[in-house]
Amino acid sequence: MWTSLVCVVLVTSPGGASLPLVVNTWPFKEAAAAAWEALQSGGSVLDAVERGCRRCELDQCDGSVGFGGSPDETGETSLDALIINGDTMEVGAVADLRRVKNAIGVARAVMERTHHTLLVGESASAFAEDMGFPAEDLTTNKSKGLYTRWLQAGCQPNYRQNVVPDPATSCGPYRPGPGRTPHRRPPPTDLRAHDTIGVIAISGKGQVAAGTSTNGANHKIPGRVGDSPIAGAGAYADSSAGAAAATGDGDIMMRFLPSFLAVELMRGGAEPSAACTAAVARTKRHYPEFFGAVICANTTGHYGAACNKLPGFPKFSYMVVSAETRGPSLHTVDCF
Ligand code: GLY
Repeated sequence: MWTSLVCVVLVTSPGGASLPLVVNTWPFKEAAAAAWEALQSGGSVLDAVERGCRRCELDQCDGSVGFGGSPDETGETSLDALIINGDTMEVGAVADLRRVKNAIGVARAVMERTHHTLLVGESASAFAEDMGFPAEDLTTNKSKGLYTRWLQAGCQPNYRQNVVPDPATSCGPYRPGPGRTPHRRPPPTDLRAHDTIGVIAISGKGQVAAGTSTNGANHKIPGRVGDSPIAGAGAYADSSAGAAAATGDGDIMMRFLPSFLAVELMRGGAEPSAACTAAVARTKRHYPEFFGAVICANTTGHYGAACNKLPGFPKFSYMVVSAETRGPSLHTVDCF
């Protein structure tokens, strides 16, 4: 679990400024180290983002990134990933990727080997295989166990509504129910069901890149795509302003493009912490009980984060690496 990856350095204040810089969501120390190592060995900011996300995919960070996590209603794991070049505004993304483990690598291939931005589902898998990524089963004993327990619990938690049989008590198959009750999303029952590795990398020259990787939401409806592969939602980067990345309930957060909003606020002069806070506040205004956090960094090497305070989620942790930190350092921010 992610708690075993926590670095010993704990900093509670927002920070900066020093370039080059790597910032990533959650206490995924090995991801931060991998991204930093890419920069130190002469790699680009895109290399740093890819290596950081890839490290988490291999480590199955928190169970919420990579293979073997978040089985859908049929028990299958599928992956979402995104990479953005803030110099050129090239973007590559994959969503609902099946049977291929290296989601961030496929996202980069979409960016570099096509004129498209986002490929999805079986067609994304076919593209990945054409590009040389091996087809593999993403199921593990852990994901099988999660799926079995979900079936035994009457398919709870469940993302369907206004269908019969009642999805709050029964498994499917479902069909449309009579009428439509006003939607009120229940408070999250499993806060860890929506984590994402989001990585921001900024070079010494101020080149900015960002990316994400996740296996999405536990027990999602097959075909569901969250915020992580959506530019402006899961992450955004622009070398004339900065970058941001989001983690949390993507079904809600993608409606507000929090990463795009935060970058635009930084472009207007907002400090990264203030930009992140404003992005979280925008979503909170409509969904006070949403689970989520945003990390932000600007081109002068300042960084910050913000999160929505919930029972069981009073603070959010993220990793920072710069010449000043001398290795990955763990930062925390109090949620509001
Ligand atoms: N933020 C990850 C997801 O909801 O898919």
